[in-house]
Amino acid sequence: MNMSDLEQLKAHLWDLRNNLNFHSHRYYVLDDPVISDQEYDRLFQELIDIEARYPDLVTPDSPSQRVGSTLLSKFQSVGHTYPMLSLENGFSDSDLLGFEERIRRFLKIFTTISYVAEPKLDGLAVEIVYEHGIMVTGSTRGDGRVGEDITNNLKTVSSIPLKLFSPGDWPVPERLEVRGEVFIGFKGFKKLNEQRLADRENLFANPRNAAAGSLRQLDSRITAGRQLDFFVYGVSDPSSLPCRNQDELLKYLGMLGFKTNPLTALCDDMNQVIAHFDRLGDIRSDLAYDIDGMVIKVSSFELQTRLGSKARSPRWAIARKFPASQTTTRLLSVEFGVGRTGAVTPVAILEPVSIGGVTVSRATLHNEDEINRKDLHIGDMVLVQRAGDVIPEVIKPMFDLRKGDEQPILMPERCPECGHELVRPVGEAVIRCPNSLCPAQRLRSLIHYTGKAGMDIEGLGKKVMGQLASEGLIKDIPDIYELKPSDLVGLEGWAEKSADNVVKAIQNSMKISLSKFIAALGIRYVGEVTARLLEEHFNTLDFLMKASEADFYEIEGVGEQVTGSLIKYFDDPSVREMIVRLMVLGMEIIPSAPAAEGLPLAGRVFLFTGSLKSFSRSEAKVRVKELGGHVASSISKKVTHVVCGQKPGSKARKALEMGLEIFSEEEFELVLSG
Ligand code: IVH
Repeated sequence: MNMSDLEQLKAHLWDLRNNLNFHSHRYYVLDDPVISDQEYDRLFQELIDIEARYPDLVTPDSPSQRVGSTLLSKFQSVGHTYPMLSLENGFSDSDLLGFEERIRRFLKIFTTISYVAEPKLDGLAVEIVYEHGIMVTGSTRGDGRVGEDITNNLKTVSSIPLKLFSPGDWPVPERLEVRGEVFIGFKGFKKLNEQRLADRENLFANPRNAAAGSLRQLDSRITAGRQLDFFVYGVSDPSSLPCRNQDELLKYLGMLGFKTNPLTALCDDMNQVIAHFDRLGDIRSDLAYDIDGMVIKVSSFELQTRLGSKARSPRWAIARKFPASQTTTRLLSVEFGVGRTGAVTPVAILEPVSIGGVTVSRATLHNEDEINRKDLHIGDMVLVQRAGDVIPEVIKPMFDLRKGDEQPILMPERCPECGHELVRPVGEAVIRCPNSLCPAQRLRSLIHYTGKAGMDIEGLGKKVMGQLASEGLIKDIPDIYELKPSDLVGLEGWAEKSADNVVKAIQNSMKISLSKFIAALGIRYVGEVTARLLEEHFNTLDFLMKASEADFYEIEGVGEQVTGSLIKYFDDPSVREMIVRLMVLGMEIIPSAPAAEGLPLAGRVFLFTGSLKSFSRSEAKVRVKELGGHVASSISKKVTHVVCGQKPGSKARKALEMGLEIFSEEEFELVLSG
C-alpha cells in the first residue's frame, strides 16, 4: 500500500471509530440510539475486518478492544495518585443533621450549605485514568492506596468511554482520574444466575458480588459477556478542571461522555436532602439496579478543600443508608412448586419478616444441589435477602444458632400437583414432572402464553388465569379464544365492562406474528430470541411444523437442545390438534415481515400519546412495526405521525408546538389499513 492509501485508510478508521463511539454513547450512556442495532453492527464489523487485515493500525481506544482480550496470569498492582477513601455511614435523618452540625462547627459558618445527593450504587468502586482523552488504565479500589489493574476488563464495559469527547469550549484534560461504580442491573444479574444454575455453578448471592466477580476475571472475554454498567461520581482531584462544585463536575463529566446518575439532585439545604432521600426510598424498588443508600456531598469544592479528610473518609461527604436488605428468620418448611416445563422447585416457607419495608414469607431455594451446598435444614435460622424485584433468596443457615433438632429437607418423589413420579435427568440439577397433562404445568403454560413474554393479552395476568382455570373455563390455549363475556360476568371480580374488555383484547390478539406466537407457546429452550431466528428462517408456521432436524441445524444459533425440543413439541399429536383448533377459531399467524423497505409504513416514525379505544398500546406498536414503521417513545423531529388518543399527555402539546402532524385514532386506523 502506498503512503497516500495508508493515510486514507487511517483517516477512514478514525472516522469509523469516532462514529462508533458516538453511537455507542447514544445507546449505552444516553439510552437514546439514533441508528438501528443492525447498522451499528455493520459499522463495527467493518472496523473488525479492517483491523484484522491491518493489525498495526489497531489503537488502544478502538471500540474493537471492548470484546475482551488475552488471558492474564494475575492482576498487576496500580497505585492511586490520591487515595480512594470510603464514606462515613448515616442511618437516620438525625445522623444527617449531626453531619451538617459538625461541618458548621468545623468551618464556623452559619449560612446554608448546598449539597449534591447521589444514589449510592451497590457495586464496585473503580478508578479510570485518561491521558489526552484516551483511557490508559483502570483499577479497583484495593486498600485505597493500591488497587488491581483491571484495564482490559473495564474496557469491555460499554458505558465507559475509551476516548473522551471534547468538553465544549474547554480542552480535554491532559490527565484525568475519574472514579465511579461498576455495577450489574437486576436483569443482567438474573440472566447470569440462570446461566450458572443451568451450568451447575455456584450462584452469586447478590448483584454486588456478581459485579465484583465479573470484574475480577483474568479472562476479559468472560467479563465482556456480563452486562456490566458504570456511573461516574467524581474525580481524584478537581482543582485543574473548569468546575467549582460537584454539580458542575457531574455536568462536565457528562460532556466528556460519561454516564452520570439521573437521580442525582442538587439540594439547597439539608431539608431538601432529606426529602430526596425519601423520594429515592419510594422509587428504590422500581429501579433497574440496586442502590443501598444515598451519598451526600457538600457541593462547593472550596468548602470540600477546607473540610479535608479524616484517616478513612472525607469530612464533606456521608452515606445515608437504607434499612438492610438482609435479615434473619426461621425456615419453617419447604414447599415444592411445579413450573411450566415441569421443573419442581423448592420454595422456603419462612416466618414472615420485614426486609427493607416489604414482608417476606417465601424465598426460592433453586434446586436440590443448592440446598445441599448451603446445608439448609428445616428449623434453621437463615439469612434472607431481598434486592429490588428479584425473588427473595435464602443465603445461608446461621450455623451457630443450631439446636440440633433441625430436620433435613427431603425432595419429593411424586409431583405435588398430579402425583406422577418425578424424574431427575442425568446431568441436570432439577427434578421434573414428566406428565404433560399435569394441571400445574398446564396453568403455568397458559399464564406464560397470555403473559408479557407471550401474547401479552391485557387483563389475562397470573391471577385471572388462575381463576379461569379453577372455574374450569380454560384448560388449554384454544379455550381462551372461546371465552364469551357471559362466561365471565358473575364470577368474582367481573362486571360486564371488564368482561367485554378482556374478550376484546383476546380477539385483538388473534392476528399475531410468527415469532410472538412461537415464544408464547413456551416450548422448552425456545425464548424470544430463538423464536425470532425461527421466524426469519421459516417464515410461516406451516414450514416450521414440517421442518426436519437438518432444517433446524441450518439456522445459526439453533443447536441440538433447541432442535430436539422443537421436534418433540411439534411431533406431539395434541400440539398439532391444538394448532388446528386455533386456526379454526380464526387465529391468523402473519408470515414474517420482509425487509422494511417496500412495506407501507417504512420510514415513518409513530409516537403515541393518550389511550386508544380499540387497541392496547402494545398492539398499536406491533401493528406499526409489522407494517415496517418505527415507534418512538419521546418526541423529536424524526417523528412523522403523532397519534393522539383520549387524555393525551404533554407530548401532544409539544407536538403541536413543534408543528408535527397529529392523527386521531380513526385516522391512525386508516393509515394502518392503507
Ligand atoms: S463518593 C470520598 N459517590 O460507596 C468519596 N461513593 O464507602 C468516596 N459509592 O465503595 C466515594 N456510589 O464506590 C461516592 N455516588 C457515590 C457513590 C459512592 C457508591 C461507593 C463507593 C465506595 C463506597 C464508599
